[in-house]
Amino acid sequence: MKEILDQLESRRNEARLGGGQKRIDSQHAKGKLTARERIDILLDEGSFEEFDMFKAHRCVDFGMASQSIPGDGVVTGWGTINGRQVYVFSQDFTVFGGSLSETHAEKICKVMDMAVQNGAPVIGLNDSGGARIQEGVASLAGYADVFQRNIMASGCVPQISVIMGPCAGGAVYSPAMTDFIFMVRDSSYMFVTGPDVVKTVTNEVVTAEELGGAKTHTSKSSVADGAYENDVVALSEVRRLVDFLPLSSREKPPVRPFFDPVNRVEDSLDTLVPPNANTPYDMKELIQKIADEGDFFEIQQDFAKNILTGFIRLEGSTIGIVANQPMVLAGCLDIDSARKAARFVRFCDAFQIPILTLVDVPGFLPGTSQEYGGIIKHGAKLLFAYGEATVPKVTVIVRKAYGGAYDVMASKHLRGDVNYAWPSAEIAVMGAKGAVEILYRSELGDPEKIAARTKDYEDRFANPFVAAERGFIDEVIMPHSTRRRVARAFASLRTKVLANPYKKHDNIPL
Ligand code: HXC
Repeated sequence: MKEILDQLESRRNEARLGGGQKRIDSQHAKGKLTARERIDILLDEGSFEEFDMFKAHRCVDFGMASQSIPGDGVVTGWGTINGRQVYVFSQDFTVFGGSLSETHAEKICKVMDMAVQNGAPVIGLNDSGGARIQEGVASLAGYADVFQRNIMASGCVPQISVIMGPCAGGAVYSPAMTDFIFMVRDSSYMFVTGPDVVKTVTNEVVTAEELGGAKTHTSKSSVADGAYENDVVALSEVRRLVDFLPLSSREKPPVRPFFDPVNRVEDSLDTLVPPNANTPYDMKELIQKIADEGDFFEIQQDFAKNILTGFIRLEGSTIGIVANQPMVLAGCLDIDSARKAARFVRFCDAFQIPILTLVDVPGFLPGTSQEYGGIIKHGAKLLFAYGEATVPKVTVIVRKAYGGAYDVMASKHLRGDVNYAWPSAEIAVMGAKGAVEILYRSELGDPEKIAARTKDYEDRFANPFVAAERGFIDEVIMPHSTRRRVARAFASLRTKVLANPYKKHDNIPL
């Protein structure tokens, strides 16, 4: 018996070595960890249960029959993150460059099926040369099998992709259909066609980093939701994110112990909004002062900075934040910010995460580039996302809420549950200057008259009370008590029941 046990151990050791020490050393020399080292950092110590360690490819072409490495370039299984179950696959670049074969795909599909069945997130650590060239169409079929599962799992369990090496060709489409994509700076890239093909077809000369590196995807294309310095930081941040998320759409987000009094008064918020309505201030300060222990996990912090999205906790429970940022483009809505926020709102709604919206929005960004780019359709995404969301929605209008943007930002009319305003709120069709110029065009030559008209308009509309008189604002609250008021509002909504009419699915303007 001892011999048999030893045999198992030696088979295991062989599988653990992947493509061999030389290739492991080369992976390390690039500043990258191996597939197994990454799993060790991602999961709680000793929690990993591996599947299919000995699964091997079935390819016989191109001399592959004699090159078989147990596990076939991907390590799969499940484990825990702070005690909560997650499924994981981690591509092993030391085995055929982490390329995806038929059997490699089967391993990924197996954990995805289990994740959906058992209600736990899937985390994919991607480091792969794409389709296994020797396998041809069998490998393409494998990708499509993974894609189909990504689609079926969407909205059932959170799916998180970490790009930790190359990710090219159709391979990018599996991560693209997951909920969050994180990249590692300087060692990962994603593109549909690489620099060589780009040069041939369009004559553009571009490096892999410029075309599809972390900076490109977090700040230009918005394909990725965050980028980190190295593998260790990226994996630690994924652990932090998972702590905010429910394991599946069947359950509510986790409630963690908290050590921050819900009644905490923040006097500094009474002076957050500057006296001049055109002076910016940092909306992040408000978010941090509302959040338990000031903890804010930001999503897409380098893209469309005129809107902030991310997670906080209130009384230990996860809350999704959407907030206009007056520091960038005066906080106005445009194509990028509407798309960014809409996707975030839909994620929250799919996974029962209540949404807190902090509003300071002067309107939609005007201009031909916005109109030609389809702001009508993109803006409608956010409107649609808020309107269809059935999770608890609490809104605080901090300063400006003008025009269509007032409606869009989780207004009462889009089934906002509790809509508060600070006394500094200005809720109107537009700002005073614009309004007076339209209403009193004939008086424009008389600055005194115009000044009086502007003052009149400001007195009437530059406040939250007209909206409050109509019940569109439930209460005008003191800035210093925002944390308590918002936390109590969400507490009152814990048992909210709201369903949309039955349909196969809606037709959000894509
Ligand atoms: C089989 C592959 C491979 C692949 C790499 N390898 N990619 N084996 N299929 N797709 C192997 C190499 O032969 C090598 O084996 C080892 O992995 C490491 O590769 P290197 O080239 O030495 O590494 P590096 O210099 O770091 O370059 C990595 C790379 C490059 C940029 C990923 O290997 C590369 O360009 N590979 C091909 C990428 C590609 O065109 N894939 C198909 C994309 S199309 P040894 O034995 O020497 O260690 C696609 C379609 C999907 O994916 C469609 C889905 C719908």
